[in-house]
Amino acid sequence: MRKNAKKIKIIRSPLVLQRLSKKMLAQKKSIGLVPTMGALHKGHISLVEMSVKNNNITIVSIFVNPVQFGANEDFAKYPRRLQADAKLCAEAGADIIFAPAPKDMYPMSLQTYVRNVEIENIYCGACRPGHFAGVLSVVAKLFNIALPSNAYFGEKDFQQLHVIRKMTCDLNFPVRIIGAKTIREKSGLAMSSRNEYMSKEERAAASSIYVGMLEAKKMYRRGINSVAKLKKAIFEKIEQAGGKVQYAEIANKDNLMPVKTKILKDAVILLACYFGKTRLIDHLEI
Ligand code: PAF
Repeated sequence: MRKNAKKIKIIRSPLVLQRLSKKMLAQKKSIGLVPTMGALHKGHISLVEMSVKNNNITIVSIFVNPVQFGANEDFAKYPRRLQADAKLCAEAGADIIFAPAPKDMYPMSLQTYVRNVEIENIYCGACRPGHFAGVLSVVAKLFNIALPSNAYFGEKDFQQLHVIRKMTCDLNFPVRIIGAKTIREKSGLAMSSRNEYMSKEERAAASSIYVGMLEAKKMYRRGINSVAKLKKAIFEKIEQAGGKVQYAEIANKDNLMPVKTKILKDAVILLACYFGKTRLIDHLEI
């Protein structure tokens, strides 16, 4: 982090940012975009720092995107703290914050969505109908508004990163997608803006997610490649700690298709679970 943070510009209007981005591109400046919903933590800041290092201009978008939340989800209570986030971004060397209001991004109701017709039916796609269409649609809009050369996303949202890469490729967006490693707390809990919903006790118990996944990875390394056995180990660790697993699956690392019985090549554990009312997701490559 920089001691003398420069003054960061906050832009609200999509049109103003798009015009500015066009100007910067004409001046041959590379633009890095870090899309976020705010409530920034070390994971986000590592993306900002990566962008600052590799681009002339870094734009951080902060927008709690209504269309990616289901009717009974946490849209209303999602933490919003623009000034504190802006300070963190400035200290990390970012140049611009794009913080539109919902009416700026969606002046009329959205009728055009980008969907991944495979992943929307499995894992988080199945548990949160419409979620990935909401994510892809807003990311497509952000790409068209900020015109980035490079865009940075955390591997923490592994399925999200996958569908964004696929969209970028399928729809020929001229953007390089850079995924960055998950940043974990000392306990192993993956950093997430939603961690702050949990009580101290729930947060401590939620470290069992990583413990369970590590246990499965160790079993795999010892030669156990039965999906059922690895899943059982993960379920046991999380549920013994008081969590409730929504799904825990083993997927092919490259296309995210489920591995049904035996792991034969690079795979990833994908899971979602609840501690109290807080829904957490995580993943581990094995
Ligand atoms: O990962 C997030 O914070 C959001 O899903 C994203 C990519 C900013 C889209 O709203």
